[in-house]
Formats: sequence, C-alpha cells, structure tokens
Amino acid sequence: MPVTENQVLDALRNVMDPDLHRDIVSLNFVKDIKIDGTTVSLSVQLTTPACPVKEILQQQCVDSLLGLEGVETAQVEMTAQVRERTASKDDLLPQVKHVIAIASGKGGVGKSTVTVNLAIALAQTGARVGVLDADVYGPSIPLMMGAKDEKPFTQDGKIVPIQRYGLHMMSLGFLMEEGQAVLWRGPMVAGTVRQLLEDVSWGELDYLLVDLPPGTGDAPMSLAQLAPLTGVVIVATPQHVAANIAGKSVALFRRLNSPILGVVENMAGFVCPECGTVTQIFAGFSGESLAKDLKVPFLGSIPLDPVISEAGDGGVPSLVSFPARPQAGAFHAIAGKLAQQASILAMSKAEPAEIEFKPAT
Ligand SMILES: Nc1ncnc2c1ncn2[C@@H]1O[C@H](COP(=O)(O)OP(=O)(O)O)[C@@H](O)[C@H]1O
Ligand SMILES: [Mg+2]
Repeated sequence: MPVTENQVLDALRNVMDPDLHRDIVSLNFVKDIKIDGTTVSLSVQLTTPACPVKEILQQQCVDSLLGLEGVETAQVEMTAQVRERTASKDDLLPQVKHVIAIASGKGGVGKSTVTVNLAIALAQTGARVGVLDADVYGPSIPLMMGAKDEKPFTQDGKIVPIQRYGLHMMSLGFLMEEGQAVLWRGPMVAGTVRQLLEDVSWGELDYLLVDLPPGTGDAPMSLAQLAPLTGVVIVATPQHVAANIAGKSVALFRRLNSPILGVVENMAGFVCPECGTVTQIFAGFSGESLAKDLKVPFLGSIPLDPVISEAGDGGVPSLVSFPARPQAGAFHAIAGKLAQQASILAMSKAEPAEIEFKPAT
C-alpha cells in the first residue's frame, strides 16, 4: 500500500521553520505532493530564495519522508515565493513585496556600499531586487554601480530603471546634471522621494533597498509614509558605536514606528592585504553588543578592506569584482539574515496572533 497524502503531511509536521517557530505544513509551505509507488516528491515553498537554512530544512523533509513506512525515495524541491504584503490604498509601490531602508546616523559609514552589495547578494539568490538611491544630498549609487553616465529614458510616462548586475536602480544622480548643486528644503526632499517612487516603473520586485541620507530627516519620514517599510537596516562602524550615534538613530526610527530589521557593522576590523588576517581596531565596541543593547537583530559584520573602496570607486561593487575576499561571504550571510528577518516580520504582521517577532540573537 502506498502512503497517503495525509501521512506525508503528518510526517512533515515535524519539520519546523526555525524563524517562524511553526511547522512547514501549517505554514502552508508544502506544495505539489506526488506519490508514485514508493517514491514521494513535493516542493517546499519558502518565503525567500535567500533563506539561509534552506538545505537544513530540505534534509529534514527528506529524513521525515524516508521515516515513513512504504517510502523508499523522497524528492524535495525547495522553491521560494516572497509573500505579498497587504498594501494600503495610498501605497505607491503595491507591487514591491519588501521595501527595506538602509540608514545610518552619520555619512561615510558605508551605507551605500552595504546597500549595493546586499542588493547584489539578494539578486544572486534569484530574487528580483531594486535599489533606490534616496540619498538626495549625496547620490553615490550611479558611480558605485559603474553607471554615472547613464541617462534613463521614459516609457509610457514613467522613468525606466537602469539595470546593472541584475538590479533595477534609480537615483537622483541620473536625473541631475553633473556638478549641479541643489539647495534642499524639507518639502522638496519629500517631493523628490515621492517622485522616485511614483514616477519610476519599478515593476514587480521582491526587495527594494532604499539608500537613505544619513540621519533621520525628511527622506525616511516621507518614505515611511508613501511605501510602508518592512523595516530599516542600521549601518554602523565601531567608532559610531563608541559615540552612540547608531543608538540614537535606532531610537529615532522607533519613534517613526519603523521596525528595525537589524544592525550591520561595517569597517569592523582591518584585513591585511598581504596575509588576509583581520585585526580589530576599535576593540570593545562592536555592532553585536550594540544590537544586544538595543534588542534588535545583529545581521553581521564587514571588515575594512581596501578593495571595497577601490571596487566602489571603480564602479564594480566588491561582491562582483572580488568574490573571493572575506567580505563577499559576509555580504552573502548578511543578505540571508536580512531576508530571514524580513520574512519573519512580514509573517508576524499577516498573522500577528500566531507569530511573534522575536529578533534572532
Ligand atoms: N568595509 C569597507 N572597507 C573599506 N572601505 C569601505 C568599506 N565600506 C565602505 N568603504 C568606503 O568608504 C567610503 C564611504 O562609503 P559609502 O558607502 O559611500 O558611505 P555612506 O553611504 O555611508 O556615506 C567609500 O569610499 C567606500 O568605498
Ligand atoms: Mg552614501
């Protein structure tokens, strides 16, 4: 007697999603069950292609299925579908599943560098990713992405994003003349952010990463109002942790009611160009301890490495130009954790009673 679909589902109820704290059957992740004699095949649809525990879950599913009497072969395919969010009526980006802002208390901490490399890491997992350069005071994404001479064109009345390294991107830098200076006033910033959301044909995206200007001025506020944020990533360097600048920006985002997805520590230690050893420079002040103090997730740490700035200035982000350096692994790991936190937060909003947002420690 071949196994039944119910037996298969019962077996899979033992497989828990470690982030959502629920089993994959009640989460409705199990799809396309096919039973052919002693062979069971099915797919498990996760909430992000960047899930860091994909292989572990797959193995647990296979083991659970093989534990059933009458099953000799188990084929489990891991797929992903980033879940829709419930868009409100004034949401300007209903087709974007996660809008994630990258913020910092001060400039020069590597916010733009982190934004582009995380975006590329997410895109490399198969997700559809956009980058919006909302740093109206110092748009640097075009240069970092080797696209500073691009001039976007319009189609059907909307600006078409520029494509690079698998990303869709837009920046005020593309729309301004080179060397043009703008004296910003608050309402202009809000209007510009609105335009970058509304007048650009972003299309369907899983993640839109928004590079915010430093601090907590008009840009994050308008962004939060116009396109509900999944959350904010805070980039901090050990120096800024020491000066509690990052702590202040977390406090301000909390006041804006924007969830904090986590802290990324940048320029944490120096990577020796000769031997690759990492030396800590500001020992004792870490992004990890900051995250713990603030009770937000710690997403990871990126070392100070001269090739990162060389790559950024050269227009080929380090993840693409130096995929074997230590920071490439760090960017991939952080992208996975970020996607994980975004899924947890989205699911906790969809079913607040069942899934509580518990930042990973
Ligand atoms: N981990 C790192 N190692 C070395 N240089 C870095 C690192 N992160 C950023 N940089 C460099 O530091 C400078 C500031 O980074 P940037 O991303 O422009 O900061 P922000 O957007 O916060 O102002 C850039 O020249 C960038 O290439
Ligand atoms: Mg920047």
